[in-house]
Amino acid sequence: MNKKNCYSNFNLISLIRENILYIEPYISARIEYKEEKNSIFLDANENSFGAPLSFYNSYNRYPDPLQEKLKKRISSIKNIPPSNIFLGNGSDEIIDLIYRIFSCPGKDNAIIFPPTYGMYEVCGKIHGVNIIKIPLLEEEYQLNLKDIKKVINNYCNNKIIFICSPNNPTGNNIIREDIKSLIKMFTGIIVLDEAYIDFSFESSISEEIEKFPNLIVLQTLSKSWGLAGLRIGIAIASKEIIYWMNKIKFPYNISINSQEIAMKALDNKDLFFYNLKNILSEREYLENSLKKIPIVDIVYPSSSNFFLVKINSSSIHLYQYLINKKIIVRDRSKVILCENCLRITVGTHEENEYLISNIKKYSDKKNKT
Ligand SMILES: Cc1ncc(COP(=O)(O)O)c(C=O)c1O
Repeated sequence: MNKKNCYSNFNLISLIRENILYIEPYISARIEYKEEKNSIFLDANENSFGAPLSFYNSYNRYPDPLQEKLKKRISSIKNIPPSNIFLGNGSDEIIDLIYRIFSCPGKDNAIIFPPTYGMYEVCGKIHGVNIIKIPLLEEEYQLNLKDIKKVINNYCNNKIIFICSPNNPTGNNIIREDIKSLIKMFTGIIVLDEAYIDFSFESSISEEIEKFPNLIVLQTLSKSWGLAGLRIGIAIASKEIIYWMNKIKFPYNISINSQEIAMKALDNKDLFFYNLKNILSEREYLENSLKKIPIVDIVYPSSSNFFLVKINSSSIHLYQYLINKKIIVRDRSKVILCENCLRITVGTHEENEYLISNIKKYSDKKNKT
């Protein structure tokens, strides 16, 4: 880490990795003549005879590189102009793009607040970026603003800060005012990952995107929309930031199938809200049931579709016990501030009942020994 002095004001261009700044983007064939619906397309080396499939399809053609129709649907649901939206092959692709655009390997730092989503660190390390970790405060899993300020003021080359709210694996919202004060004090890029925002009673900060030129909000269709298999992540940011993402992304990063099926799902808002309501009521059921089990020490409050659960003995034993019962949860006991913790996703009512009955059995056995 190099000592001071950083950029005093936000200047997007000054944050961009130099080789990216001067790159001539690849112009995909489908961008150049996208309006030419009735033409013969012999420009992209596609197979004009089609795919060896027995049903009608257009898979022999490349998909829309900028996913314009899908962005329009997302735009109307989220009330954000399409020009402020970028779509990635999952938000994981967007995290990777953010590192590519805004950090220099071997030189720059990214700041993360563990315990948090693992890909911020893994992806940063893949890019050779130094990761500065400032753990969340112990009791409430909130930002340690005092230590964050020290790091921001004392070290240069801090390019990216990742905040996750609601946070994975703790499940809680990060206090909105703390997030805003960090956005205002930091002259690099702030990534606010809202993968679980639809499960929270807080609104998305993306409604205020115009106010924050250094903010990138990440959302995804993998969680509340139940489309993890399609791989569609969403970035909401200033048009200038979106420009750089479009400039360096892979030309056809979202498949025809993913674009089309996502649009169908987005048109079915009634079913979306019905499922969301069920998840929220199951979350309540799971929380109340877990809290009654003697070996459960803490069920951390959740604004997500999962709980971080602290066990009053070794969580690894319970984890193994559940695997033997064919229930897979996530062991987080080796993660900082998560000693003896499991992360448990809210399932269907039957799944939750089966889980609860097995944790109860385990607890009873433990109490007898
Ligand atoms: C906080 C957070 N961000 C991003 C992701 C990845 O989302 P996607 O499926 O869009 O890549 C996850 C996945 O678990 C997550 O927990």
